[in-house]
Amino acid sequence: MTVESTPTHLKVLLVDDEENIVRAITRLLLEEEIDLEVVSANSGAQGLEALEAHPDVALILSDQRMPGMSGAEFLEKARDIVPDAVRMVLTGYADMAATMDAINKGGASRYLTKPWDDNMLRRTILEGVEQYRLVQENRTLTALVEKQNRELAEWNQGLKGRVMDQTATIRRQNQELQQRNRQIGASFRNTILAFSRLIELHSSRLQEHTRNVTELAVGTATGLGLGTEQIETVRTAALLHDVGVIGIASEILDKSMEGMPREELDIFLQHAVRGQTAVDAVEELREAGLLIRHHHEQYDGRGFPDRISGEAIPLGARIIAFADFVDRELEEQRGEAAVASVLAKASRELGGKLDPALIDAITPHIRALYIPARSRRAEAAEKELRPKQLFEGMTITRNVYSGSGLLLLTKGTVLDAAKIMTVVRHYGIDPPKGGVHVSWRPAESDDGRPGCAPDCQVPEQELKPRHLKEGMRTTRNIYSGTGLLLLTEGTVLDASSIVAVTRYYDIDPPSCGIYVSTEREPAPDAGPNTSREAP
Ligand SMILES: [Fe+2]
Ligand SMILES: [Fe+2]
Repeated sequence: MTVESTPTHLKVLLVDDEENIVRAITRLLLEEEIDLEVVSANSGAQGLEALEAHPDVALILSDQRMPGMSGAEFLEKARDIVPDAVRMVLTGYADMAATMDAINKGGASRYLTKPWDDNMLRRTILEGVEQYRLVQENRTLTALVEKQNRELAEWNQGLKGRVMDQTATIRRQNQELQQRNRQIGASFRNTILAFSRLIELHSSRLQEHTRNVTELAVGTATGLGLGTEQIETVRTAALLHDVGVIGIASEILDKSMEGMPREELDIFLQHAVRGQTAVDAVEELREAGLLIRHHHEQYDGRGFPDRISGEAIPLGARIIAFADFVDRELEEQRGEAAVASVLAKASRELGGKLDPALIDAITPHIRALYIPARSRRAEAAEKELRPKQLFEGMTITRNVYSGSGLLLLTKGTVLDAAKIMTVVRHYGIDPPKGGVHVSWRPAESDDGRPGCAPDCQVPEQELKPRHLKEGMRTTRNIYSGTGLLLLTEGTVLDASSIVAVTRYYDIDPPSCGIYVSTEREPAPDAGPNTSREAP
């Protein structure tokens, strides 16, 4: 719809059968300064024709008494053609009845009498024209406001649609961004895990050490109320704390720190600095690198490499040093007595090697990791170990053959130093696939079943990687075909550990499946961070 502006050029129609009256009024009007166009007609019929030609007439002034069609009749018809035009009638005093007719039927708004007063006539006509102009202007403005309102409504609708579209786009991009962030985060964590596995590859002595230190350190950091970022830094540093041992000869690594001559200890301790150097190129690992550097500092300032003391040692490094001390002391030992002994030894080192402020926070995690209900189960469960992980007193649970099929040990044999040496030697020269299956249970019952109480039997099943589900708990250590420890017994599976195991089964498959239990154990008192799974 287009909106016309109010016309500045206004038309007046004069209808009178007397020519001289028409001329007189025309002249009177043309003297006015406003832009008026006067159209005239000498009868009602001519007047109607003029209206067809000029439908924009603003005002009609019609004589009442005309031959053929009276003024009242003409105005009545004119109203149908130009309903907006202001209508006036010109009449003599004697025609009052007809004048009323013109007002009632023809909708005339005024009547003027003959003879007229020029000023009065002029003023009346100009007022009528002005009335028409105001009505038209009002109509034009109303139409304009309506049009603008409609445009505004359309614009608002469009705007709302665009805002909704943009909101949806932003939301989608945000979700994609979060997804990518999660992928980058997962990829970063997996990279760190891959690094930590390199340590395990390098030294069988360190296979479980990294995971145990990580679990103790993260549990302690959480218990101390550290923030999420600090805990993640501790986790990363714990996973990588011994990465610097790569490149150090295994003859040195296979000894305990106490058993190393000074010269070898100096070489061994370099791993803290080498570890920091190795990760320093990755900006996100620099803070963890600092903890790696200081994880062999001592609280009394007699450690390595910088001999700093007390709180000058970063808290994360003090936590890892404590966890490292405990796990090195315990090695393969488990149970109440072993834990009590190592806690006593740790107490003697408080203020010396270890930070006294950490003992209360770390103790519950030590107990949960090394003694626990699961330890009873763990000791009852069968483990597949590398020869160097065998201990005297363990019982062989499956016949052990060399790679060429020579029977080395029979099921039920209790290991002693000589038998372990035999196995180690054969694994060196004629290695079979897989490890040696053992248990800590003291003996077998007559029917060949494990000699433990019924309540300590582990309801386990052997599954292929694709059948693993989140929440299942491993009941034996899981090794790759070449003997890399993939998951420790007791690990609760999550999506990333399942993916990791599946990949190892593709690229380095072991001879058996994965032993798991779907039974959930009660959470240890120490809190939520006591899972044995390396994060
Ligand atoms: Fe270390
Ligand atoms: Fe360590």
